[in-house]
Amino acid sequence: MAIAPALRSIAKAILPRHAVEYLRRIRGENWPPVPFDNTYPWLNYTFSELVKNERCAQRPQYAWGVMQGAALAKVLGLPKVSVIEFGVGGGQGLLALETISDLIERKTNIRIDVFGFDSGVGLPKPEDFRDQPNMWFEGQLPMDRAKLEPKLYRAKLYLGPVKETITAFIKGNPTPVAFVSFDLDLYSSTRDALLLFKSDFAYVLPRVVSYFDDIFGHTYNDYCGERAAIAEFNGSGRACKICPIYGLRYFTPRFARSELWPDGMYFAHFFEHPLYSTRDSLNKPIVVDVNGTWLWGPPPRPQQPN
Ligand SMILES: C[S@@+](CC[C@H](N)C(=O)[O-])C[C@H]1O[C@@H](n2cnc3c(N)ncnc32)[C@H](O)[C@@H]1O
Repeated sequence: MAIAPALRSIAKAILPRHAVEYLRRIRGENWPPVPFDNTYPWLNYTFSELVKNERCAQRPQYAWGVMQGAALAKVLGLPKVSVIEFGVGGGQGLLALETISDLIERKTNIRIDVFGFDSGVGLPKPEDFRDQPNMWFEGQLPMDRAKLEPKLYRAKLYLGPVKETITAFIKGNPTPVAFVSFDLDLYSSTRDALLLFKSDFAYVLPRVVSYFDDIFGHTYNDYCGERAAIAEFNGSGRACKICPIYGLRYFTPRFARSELWPDGMYFAHFFEHPLYSTRDSLNKPIVVDVNGTWLWGPPPRPQQPN
Protein backbone atom coordinates (compact mmCIF):
# COMPACT_ATOMS: atom_id res chain seq x y z
CA MET A 1 0.00 0.00 0.00
CA ALA A 2 1.38 3.44 -0.91
CA ILE A 3 2.09 5.64 2.12
CA ALA A 4 -0.10 8.62 1.21
CA PRO A 5 -3.34 6.62 0.72
CA ALA A 6 -2.57 4.70 3.93
CA LEU A 7 -2.17 7.94 5.89
CA ARG A 8 -5.39 9.23 4.36
CA SER A 9 -7.28 6.11 5.50
CA ILE A 10 -5.90 6.42 9.04
CA ALA A 11 -6.78 10.13 9.20
CA LYS A 12 -10.30 9.35 7.94
CA ALA A 13 -10.73 6.67 10.60
CA ILE A 14 -9.55 8.68 13.59
CA LEU A 15 -10.38 12.34 12.87
CA PRO A 16 -13.83 13.94 13.25
CA ARG A 17 -15.66 14.40 9.94
CA HIS A 18 -15.30 18.20 9.84
CA ALA A 19 -11.51 17.87 10.32
CA VAL A 20 -11.32 15.39 7.43
CA GLU A 21 -13.39 17.74 5.26
CA TYR A 22 -11.09 20.63 6.13
CA LEU A 23 -7.95 18.64 5.32
CA ARG A 24 -9.47 17.54 2.02
CA ARG A 25 -10.08 21.14 1.06
CA ILE A 26 -6.60 22.43 1.80
CA ARG A 27 -4.78 19.34 0.48
CA GLY A 28 -2.83 19.77 -2.70
CA GLU A 29 -5.11 22.24 -4.49
CA ASN A 30 -3.06 25.34 -4.26
CA TRP A 31 -3.94 27.05 -7.48
CA PRO A 32 -1.35 29.49 -8.77
CA PRO A 33 -2.65 33.07 -8.53
CA VAL A 34 -4.89 33.95 -11.47
CA PRO A 35 -5.63 37.58 -12.47
CA PHE A 36 -9.24 38.65 -12.02
CA ASP A 37 -11.80 37.60 -14.57
CA ASN A 38 -15.28 36.16 -14.33
CA THR A 39 -14.06 32.83 -15.73
CA TYR A 40 -13.50 29.41 -14.18
CA PRO A 41 -9.71 29.76 -13.68
CA TRP A 42 -10.16 32.84 -11.45
CA LEU A 43 -13.25 31.41 -9.76
CA ASN A 44 -11.42 28.15 -8.98
CA TYR A 45 -8.30 29.88 -7.71
CA THR A 46 -10.32 32.26 -5.53
CA PHE A 47 -12.65 29.53 -4.26
CA SER A 48 -9.66 27.35 -3.29
CA GLU A 49 -8.31 30.28 -1.27
CA LEU A 50 -11.65 31.10 0.34
CA VAL A 51 -12.40 27.63 1.66
CA LYS A 52 -9.16 27.63 3.62
CA ASN A 53 -11.11 29.86 6.00
CA GLU A 54 -13.01 27.56 8.34
CA ARG A 55 -16.24 29.58 8.28
CA CYS A 56 -16.24 29.81 4.49
CA ALA A 57 -15.67 26.05 4.37
CA GLN A 58 -18.90 25.56 6.34
CA ARG A 59 -20.87 26.92 3.37
CA PRO A 60 -18.83 26.38 0.17
CA GLN A 61 -22.01 26.93 -1.85
CA TYR A 62 -22.30 30.45 -0.43
CA ALA A 63 -18.62 31.12 -1.11
CA TRP A 64 -19.05 30.05 -4.74
CA GLY A 65 -22.30 31.96 -5.19
CA VAL A 66 -21.13 35.26 -3.66
CA MET A 67 -17.83 35.05 -5.52
CA GLN A 68 -19.47 34.42 -8.90
CA GLY A 69 -22.09 37.12 -8.27
CA ALA A 70 -19.47 39.70 -7.28
CA ALA A 71 -17.33 38.76 -10.28
CA LEU A 72 -20.26 39.33 -12.65
CA ALA A 73 -20.98 42.72 -11.03
CA LYS A 74 -17.33 43.74 -11.43
CA VAL A 75 -17.25 42.85 -15.13
CA LEU A 76 -20.52 44.74 -15.65
CA GLY A 77 -19.07 47.79 -13.88
CA LEU A 78 -21.49 47.69 -10.94
CA PRO A 79 -19.75 48.67 -7.67
CA LYS A 80 -22.16 47.23 -5.09
CA VAL A 81 -24.35 44.15 -4.69
CA SER A 82 -26.62 42.48 -2.16
CA VAL A 83 -26.49 38.85 -1.04
CA ILE A 84 -29.37 37.14 0.73
CA GLU A 85 -30.03 34.12 2.88
CA PHE A 86 -33.74 33.21 2.95
CA GLY A 87 -34.17 31.12 6.10
CA VAL A 88 -31.64 31.91 8.79
CA GLY A 89 -32.65 29.49 11.57
CA GLY A 90 -29.83 29.12 14.12
CA GLY A 91 -27.68 31.48 12.04
CA GLN A 92 -24.61 29.42 11.11
CA GLY A 93 -25.25 30.09 7.42
CA LEU A 94 -25.66 33.85 7.86
CA LEU A 95 -22.49 34.09 9.94
CA ALA A 96 -20.67 32.24 7.16
CA LEU A 97 -22.20 34.63 4.60
CA GLU A 98 -20.79 37.59 6.55
CA THR A 99 -17.25 36.18 6.56
CA ILE A 100 -17.49 35.16 2.91
CA SER A 101 -18.64 38.68 1.99
CA ASP A 102 -15.71 40.23 3.90
CA LEU A 103 -13.21 38.11 2.00
CA ILE A 104 -14.81 38.58 -1.41
CA GLU A 105 -15.07 42.34 -0.94
CA ARG A 106 -11.32 42.35 -0.43
CA LYS A 107 -10.69 40.21 -3.49
CA THR A 108 -13.00 42.07 -5.87
CA ASN A 109 -13.37 45.58 -4.44
CA ILE A 110 -17.14 45.17 -4.85
CA ARG A 111 -19.21 46.31 -1.85
CA ILE A 112 -21.49 43.57 -0.57
CA ASP A 113 -24.61 44.18 1.53
CA VAL A 114 -25.65 41.08 3.49
CA PHE A 115 -29.27 40.26 4.36
CA GLY A 116 -30.98 37.46 6.27
CA PHE A 117 -34.74 36.79 6.11
CA ASP A 118 -36.53 34.72 8.72
CA SER A 119 -39.80 34.59 10.60
CA GLY A 120 -37.77 34.52 13.82
CA VAL A 121 -40.15 31.88 15.18
CA GLY A 122 -39.54 28.90 12.94
CA LEU A 123 -41.55 27.45 10.09
CA PRO A 124 -45.08 28.62 9.37
CA LYS A 125 -47.88 26.07 9.30
CA PRO A 126 -47.66 23.87 6.19
CA GLU A 127 -50.44 24.88 3.76
CA ASP A 128 -50.92 21.54 1.98
CA PHE A 129 -49.05 18.45 0.76
CA ARG A 130 -46.66 20.66 -1.25
CA ASP A 131 -45.22 21.89 2.04
CA GLN A 132 -44.45 18.26 2.90
CA PRO A 133 -46.00 18.05 6.36
CA ASN A 134 -44.50 14.58 6.56
CA MET A 135 -41.21 16.40 7.21
CA TRP A 136 -42.10 19.89 8.42
CA PHE A 137 -44.31 21.36 11.17
CA GLU A 138 -45.20 24.79 12.51
CA GLY A 139 -42.57 26.35 14.80
CA GLN A 140 -39.83 23.95 13.70
CA LEU A 141 -36.25 25.33 13.53
CA PRO A 142 -36.80 28.64 15.38
CA MET A 143 -34.14 31.32 15.60
CA ASP A 144 -32.51 32.04 18.96
CA ARG A 145 -32.34 35.81 18.53
CA ALA A 146 -30.61 36.44 21.85
CA LYS A 147 -27.76 34.17 20.80
CA LEU A 148 -27.53 35.14 17.15
CA GLU A 149 -28.03 38.90 17.00
CA PRO A 150 -24.98 39.87 19.11
CA LYS A 151 -22.79 37.72 16.82
CA LEU A 152 -23.92 39.41 13.58
CA TYR A 153 -21.69 42.34 12.67
CA ARG A 154 -22.77 43.31 9.16
CA ALA A 155 -25.89 41.38 8.11
CA LYS A 156 -29.26 43.11 8.28
CA LEU A 157 -32.07 40.85 9.47
CA TYR A 158 -35.58 41.10 8.06
CA LEU A 159 -37.82 39.34 10.59
CA GLY A 160 -41.38 38.27 9.80
CA PRO A 161 -43.15 36.29 7.07
CA VAL A 162 -40.99 36.52 3.97
CA LYS A 163 -44.00 37.55 1.86
CA GLU A 164 -44.16 40.79 3.86
CA THR A 165 -40.49 41.45 4.48
CA ILE A 166 -39.59 41.27 0.77
CA THR A 167 -41.76 44.32 0.17
CA ALA A 168 -39.96 46.16 2.97
CA PHE A 169 -36.60 45.09 1.51
CA ILE A 170 -37.44 46.46 -1.94
CA LYS A 171 -38.76 49.69 -0.43
CA GLY A 172 -35.30 50.11 1.12
CA ASN A 173 -33.88 50.50 -2.44
CA PRO A 174 -31.24 47.74 -2.13
CA THR A 175 -28.15 47.33 -4.27
CA PRO A 176 -28.67 44.70 -7.02
CA VAL A 177 -28.99 41.15 -5.71
CA ALA A 178 -26.10 38.94 -6.85
CA PHE A 179 -26.61 35.77 -4.79
CA VAL A 180 -29.53 34.18 -2.97
CA SER A 181 -29.65 31.08 -0.78
CA PHE A 182 -33.14 29.62 -0.59
CA ASP A 183 -33.38 27.61 2.62
CA LEU A 184 -36.97 28.08 3.76
CA ASP A 185 -37.81 24.36 3.55
CA LEU A 186 -41.43 24.82 2.42
CA TYR A 187 -42.96 25.16 -1.04
CA SER A 188 -45.18 28.05 0.09
CA SER A 189 -42.30 29.98 1.70
CA THR A 190 -40.07 29.50 -1.36
CA ARG A 191 -42.93 30.60 -3.64
CA ASP A 192 -43.23 33.78 -1.55
CA ALA A 193 -39.47 34.39 -1.50
CA LEU A 194 -39.41 34.14 -5.30
CA LEU A 195 -41.45 37.37 -5.37
CA LEU A 196 -38.03 38.97 -5.14
CA PHE A 197 -37.40 37.92 -8.74
CA LYS A 198 -40.54 39.72 -9.85
CA SER A 199 -39.23 43.07 -8.67
CA ASP A 200 -37.69 45.78 -10.85
CA PHE A 201 -34.52 44.91 -12.81
CA ALA A 202 -32.72 47.63 -10.83
CA TYR A 203 -32.71 45.23 -7.87
CA VAL A 204 -31.14 42.20 -9.53
CA LEU A 205 -28.11 41.39 -11.63
CA PRO A 206 -29.06 40.01 -15.06
CA ARG A 207 -28.20 36.54 -13.74
CA VAL A 208 -28.53 35.86 -10.02
CA VAL A 209 -26.67 32.86 -8.60
CA SER A 210 -29.23 30.98 -6.52
CA TYR A 211 -28.67 28.05 -4.19
CA PHE A 212 -31.55 25.71 -3.33
CA ASP A 213 -30.89 23.64 -0.23
CA ASP A 214 -33.97 21.43 0.08
CA ILE A 215 -34.06 19.48 -3.15
CA PHE A 216 -32.02 16.34 -2.45
CA GLY A 217 -32.78 13.05 -0.76
CA HIS A 218 -35.59 12.47 1.77
CA THR A 219 -39.01 12.78 0.12
CA TYR A 220 -38.20 15.80 -2.07
CA ASN A 221 -39.76 15.62 -5.51
CA ASP A 222 -40.78 17.73 -8.50
CA TYR A 223 -44.30 18.44 -7.20
CA CYS A 224 -43.49 19.56 -3.64
CA GLY A 225 -41.11 21.88 -1.80
CA GLU A 226 -38.57 24.10 -3.53
CA ARG A 227 -38.71 22.15 -6.79
CA ALA A 228 -42.46 22.80 -7.06
CA ALA A 229 -41.92 26.51 -6.33
CA ILE A 230 -39.25 26.73 -9.06
CA ALA A 231 -41.48 24.93 -11.58
CA GLU A 232 -44.41 27.23 -10.79
CA PHE A 233 -42.19 30.30 -11.13
CA ASN A 234 -40.80 29.09 -14.47
CA GLY A 235 -44.31 28.37 -15.72
CA SER A 236 -45.52 31.88 -14.94
CA GLY A 237 -44.71 33.15 -18.44
CA ARG A 238 -42.34 35.92 -17.37
CA ALA A 239 -39.04 36.28 -19.25
CA CYS A 240 -37.20 35.13 -16.16
CA LYS A 241 -36.38 31.47 -15.61
CA ILE A 242 -34.53 29.61 -12.90
CA CYS A 243 -32.27 26.89 -14.32
CA PRO A 244 -29.60 24.62 -12.84
CA ILE A 245 -25.99 25.48 -13.63
CA TYR A 246 -25.67 22.18 -15.45
CA GLY A 247 -22.47 20.24 -14.80
CA LEU A 248 -21.08 22.89 -12.45
CA ARG A 249 -19.27 20.23 -10.42
CA TYR A 250 -16.98 19.53 -13.40
CA PHE A 251 -15.93 23.21 -13.44
CA THR A 252 -15.15 23.42 -9.70
CA PRO A 253 -11.87 22.38 -8.02
CA ARG A 254 -11.36 18.63 -7.69
CA PHE A 255 -12.19 18.57 -3.97
CA ALA A 256 -15.72 19.89 -4.63
CA ARG A 257 -16.59 17.34 -7.29
CA SER A 258 -17.77 14.69 -4.86
CA GLU A 259 -19.87 17.18 -2.88
CA LEU A 260 -23.61 17.70 -3.22
CA TRP A 261 -23.80 21.48 -3.28
CA PRO A 262 -22.85 22.07 -6.97
CA ASP A 263 -26.11 20.33 -7.92
CA GLY A 264 -28.05 22.86 -5.85
CA MET A 265 -26.64 25.86 -7.74
CA TYR A 266 -28.95 27.60 -10.19
CA PHE A 267 -29.02 30.85 -12.12
CA ALA A 268 -32.10 33.05 -12.18
CA HIS A 269 -31.93 34.40 -15.75
CA PHE A 270 -33.59 37.76 -16.40
CA PHE A 271 -33.66 37.62 -20.19
CA GLU A 272 -35.09 41.13 -20.59
CA HIS A 273 -32.71 42.76 -18.11
CA PRO A 274 -30.89 45.64 -19.85
CA LEU A 275 -27.53 43.99 -19.03
CA TYR A 276 -28.49 40.38 -19.87
CA SER A 277 -26.59 40.30 -23.17
CA THR A 278 -23.61 42.36 -22.04
CA ARG A 279 -20.41 40.30 -22.22
CA ASP A 280 -19.72 38.75 -18.86
CA SER A 281 -15.96 38.22 -18.77
CA LEU A 282 -12.96 40.37 -19.62
CA ASN A 283 -11.41 37.71 -21.84
CA LYS A 284 -13.12 35.31 -24.23
CA PRO A 285 -11.82 32.57 -26.51
CA ILE A 286 -10.89 34.44 -29.70
CA VAL A 287 -9.51 31.66 -31.90
CA VAL A 288 -9.10 27.90 -31.66
CA ASP A 289 -6.39 26.63 -34.00
CA VAL A 290 -6.08 23.38 -35.95
CA ASN A 291 -4.43 21.69 -32.94
CA GLY A 292 -7.33 22.67 -30.71
CA THR A 293 -5.30 25.35 -28.91
CA TRP A 294 -7.44 28.21 -27.65
CA LEU A 295 -6.29 31.80 -27.87
CA TRP A 296 -7.93 34.02 -25.26
CA GLY A 297 -8.11 37.79 -25.21
CA PRO A 298 -10.32 40.83 -24.88
CA PRO A 299 -13.06 40.69 -27.50
CA PRO A 300 -13.46 43.59 -29.96
CA ARG A 301 -15.49 46.46 -28.58
CA PRO A 302 -19.07 46.63 -29.86
CA GLN A 303 -19.46 49.17 -32.71
CA GLN A 304 -20.68 52.56 -31.48
CA PRO A 305 -23.68 53.86 -33.48
CA ASN A 306 -22.77 56.98 -35.59
C1 LIG B 1 -33.46 25.23 7.78
S1 LIG B 1 -33.71 26.76 8.56
C2 LIG B 1 -32.42 27.75 7.86
C3 LIG B 1 -31.01 27.30 8.15
C4 LIG B 1 -29.94 28.26 7.64
N1 LIG B 1 -30.11 28.59 6.26
C5 LIG B 1 -28.52 27.72 7.81
O1 LIG B 1 -27.87 27.39 6.80
O2 LIG B 1 -28.04 27.65 8.93
C6 LIG B 1 -35.18 27.32 7.78
C7 LIG B 1 -35.70 28.63 8.35
O3 LIG B 1 -36.64 29.17 7.43
C8 LIG B 1 -37.54 30.02 8.15
N2 LIG B 1 -38.78 30.19 7.36
C9 LIG B 1 -39.47 29.23 6.70
N3 LIG B 1 -40.55 29.76 6.10
C10 LIG B 1 -40.53 31.09 6.33
C11 LIG B 1 -41.36 32.19 5.94
N4 LIG B 1 -42.46 32.02 5.16
N5 LIG B 1 -41.00 33.43 6.34
C12 LIG B 1 -39.90 33.63 7.09
N6 LIG B 1 -39.10 32.62 7.51
C13 LIG B 1 -39.39 31.38 7.14
C14 LIG B 1 -37.76 29.30 9.46
O4 LIG B 1 -37.99 30.22 10.49
C15 LIG B 1 -36.45 28.51 9.67
O5 LIG B 1 -35.69 29.06 10.69
